[in-house]
Amino acid sequence: MRVLALLDGTLADPEAPLFRADDLGVMRGDGCFETILVVNREPRELGPHLDRMERSARLMQMPLPDRQAWERAGQAVIDAWPWDDEPEMGLKFVCTRGIDGGDGTPHGFAMGMDVGPETKRKRDHGVEVVTLDRGYPSDLMERAPWLLLSAKTLSYAVNMAALREAESRGADEVIFTSSDGVVLEGPTSTVVLAQGRKLLTTPPTSGVLQGTTQGALFRAAEAAGWETEVVNFPVSALFESDGVWLASSIRKITQVRAVDGASIKADEALHTDIAGLYESNY
Ligand SMILES: Cc1ncc(COP(=O)(O)O)c(C=O)c1O
Repeated sequence: MRVLALLDGTLADPEAPLFRADDLGVMRGDGCFETILVVNREPRELGPHLDRMERSARLMQMPLPDRQAWERAGQAVIDAWPWDDEPEMGLKFVCTRGIDGGDGTPHGFAMGMDVGPETKRKRDHGVEVVTLDRGYPSDLMERAPWLLLSAKTLSYAVNMAALREAESRGADEVIFTSSDGVVLEGPTSTVVLAQGRKLLTTPPTSGVLQGTTQGALFRAAEAAGWETEVVNFPVSALFESDGVWLASSIRKITQVRAVDGASIKADEALHTDIAGLYESNY
């Protein structure tokens, strides 16, 4: 199922062509995007998603249509979505730099998509991950802003290739590591660890995306008396912690059961607590 809206809030045919062949998003993956979970018509973390999209566009030195346009298009999709069967929808906001050699007007849309059964299976049963080298050191971001580390750009081909590599190794998911051995993030997720009553995640200054789901989890955890820490940690921490999760808008809080073929601690009660903290936000 797909529902498509343009930024003026009008609906469009999701099966009809929308982009010119010379759009820079099509030709170079030059643009940014967000994926938002909508549950029972309520978008989760809409403000942080829009903040992040604005930040991505700023890092890319690309103009972005204003927030009202995204909110209007998102609402048009939510209003047109058939809510009878399933309570959840994935809402994508996509914006490209526009036409190659054009006047610089960005080109955006909002699209609703189903949350697939595979994602739900992983949420329920957890995932096995492989660690893969992302090929840069954890202190590169500030020295090399042109690499757009920590921006959510449309150039996700590397991320998708990493997921295929995981599949070819018999795993479900990836945790990227830096060349100096720091745990970074998944290709589409934030890594969260539990150590006693403390939750940890990697700082965006190491070149990872600031996760809105991780942000929501930490907010609820702090309110419930947990400690939280945003800090670099080595791969060995994945094996030594009380639990590891991949957090992202559509997968929510998915438990990691094994890393590089070795089982790690994956306590069911702790998973229920952590997933429950995230849900308590809504
Ligand atoms: C590279 C990367 N890191 C982290 C995340 C998690 O972000 P969020 O929780 O805001 O969905 C995503 C989301 O797709 C991502 O693509």
